[in-house]
Amino acid sequence: MPSNPTSFIIAIDGPAAAGKGTLSRRVADAYGFHHLDTGLTYRAAAKALLDAGLPLDDPATAEKMAHDVELDGLDRDVLSKHEIGEAASKIAVMPGVRRALVEAQRRFSGKQPGVVLDGRDIGTVVCPDAPVKLYVTASPEVRARRRFEEIRGKGTTADFDAIFEDVKRRDERDMGRTDSPLKPAEDAHLLDTSEMSIEAAFQAAKSIIDLALSRHT
Ligand code: C5P
Repeated sequence: MPSNPTSFIIAIDGPAAAGKGTLSRRVADAYGFHHLDTGLTYRAAAKALLDAGLPLDDPATAEKMAHDVELDGLDRDVLSKHEIGEAASKIAVMPGVRRALVEAQRRFSGKQPGVVLDGRDIGTVVCPDAPVKLYVTASPEVRARRRFEEIRGKGTTADFDAIFEDVKRRDERDMGRTDSPLKPAEDAHLLDTSEMSIEAAFQAAKSIIDLALSRHT
């Protein structure tokens, strides 16, 4: 064992509702690694702006909120609201916001013995040297269907067409922005979960991770 081992980084990227959150938590549990859902960091900055009644189109204010985000205090239940996700994707186009949050995410990525970070730009920008990069995707229809079932499962009514439009709009914004657009890293393994169960996706990820771990020094 080296005296100062580098932490083992698993980067998981992909569009909204592709299943990367579930997969990331499962992988982190299986390997005993720390997990950071980086989407929550963008959501926390957006929520701080919304709570303070501040505009979402002022980069200086948004950047300040991004600097104040505490990774320890991220609460998925509080941050999962649809309006917060929409606001997050608007401020995520601002380079100053991204710089502040990427810095915090990189600090997190040094945790021992390893980390799973999931988001949109982990393999391309945040941790380009990660030994494992997965790009988890599924067709927009399948992703909208999953979100629709998830909302209905909670006993709330849902409108499939509205969710479908929302998924496509979010994709456009995330893939079309100039700074760190959503795309697979050149060396990422693609996992299309359109017709794959979470168990099958986990097993596919596990084979890739085990091989990389066996080569990690
Ligand atoms: O993944 P989640 O839906 O929680 O992310 C909310 C928004 O934050 C995304 O639509 C995206 O615009 C932004 N985001 C990002 N880079 C990341 C994670 C999320 O731009 N690494």
